[in-house]
Amino acid sequence: MWCQPAEIQAISAFQKHFQAKDSDIVVASIPKSGTTWLKALTFAIVNRHRFNISSKNYNNPLLTSNPHDLVPFFEYKVYEKNQVPDLSKLPEPRLFGTHIPFPSLFNSIKESNCKIIYICRNPFDTFVSSWHFSNKIKQGSSPQLTLEEAFEMYCKGIVGFGPFWTHMLGYWKESLETPNKVQFLKYEDLKGDINSHLKSIAKFLDCPFTLEEERQGVIEDIINLCSFKNMKGLEVNKSGKSIKNFDNKNLFSKGEIGDWVNHFSPGMVEKLSIVLEEKLCGSGLWFRPS
Ligand code: A3P
Repeated sequence: MWCQPAEIQAISAFQKHFQAKDSDIVVASIPKSGTTWLKALTFAIVNRHRFNISSKNYNNPLLTSNPHDLVPFFEYKVYEKNQVPDLSKLPEPRLFGTHIPFPSLFNSIKESNCKIIYICRNPFDTFVSSWHFSNKIKQGSSPQLTLEEAFEMYCKGIVGFGPFWTHMLGYWKESLETPNKVQFLKYEDLKGDINSHLKSIAKFLDCPFTLEEERQGVIEDIINLCSFKNMKGLEVNKSGKSIKNFDNKNLFSKGEIGDWVNHFSPGMVEKLSIVLEEKLCGSGLWFRPS
């Protein structure tokens, strides 16, 4: 796994101290694949009764807090700087986020009945999203990689929590073997049909929407609250630094499928297609060409 030293420290604190509960929910992802969106959706689904999650309730946490505060990352927040917080008294279900690859989640999570929802995205778009992101957060005088240099590293697997194919395949295989424990989602599928995905996530988390809720428009309301336009526009998502030192607003760029066509040369398309072919071959995991 390719990680910064501070993240490695936090991951080892997590592996040493975290005690999973059967009711825990972990939102997992490879960076830049829709984590913020999935965190908001998961929080809304799970807490819709407890916090009266509705666009009419201006005090609901989705309008007043950043999704990364509502669903904190183990490696950036919970165990940041090697701290070991007492998590036992958090209200259940506890919601956490992580970019840690499945094999490194450690036994406590694997052996409990907690649920993991994983999101990934077409690597062409994930690369472009990461590229925009790293340009925005560029700090100090460290030299910025060119698009071509960053792309070469991406294709070699040198990317946060990568290689990206190992990351995706770890959760993919687990979702095939234990579908009640790991739900595997693709960003493109959520964009294509968010309504049925919201229902399937709720069912997976054992809190399905009732017919009455469907009639009342609860699903549409959550979709709107968590829409790209709404989330990007929220003040809590513009200001503040919920993850590391990154300004939240940098987490949102265009939120589109297929932006890679504006950045890839024919040679890059060929190279990444070959990497995907080689690495995902025979796994059953594939991405629709966009
Ligand atoms: P772009 O960089 O293509 O805009 P992550 O949350 O894992 O860092 O992923 C960031 C990507 O998810 C960004 O893609 C961002 O715009 C997109 N995103 C965030 N919230 C979204 C939402 N509510 N709907 C759709 N896409 C969203």
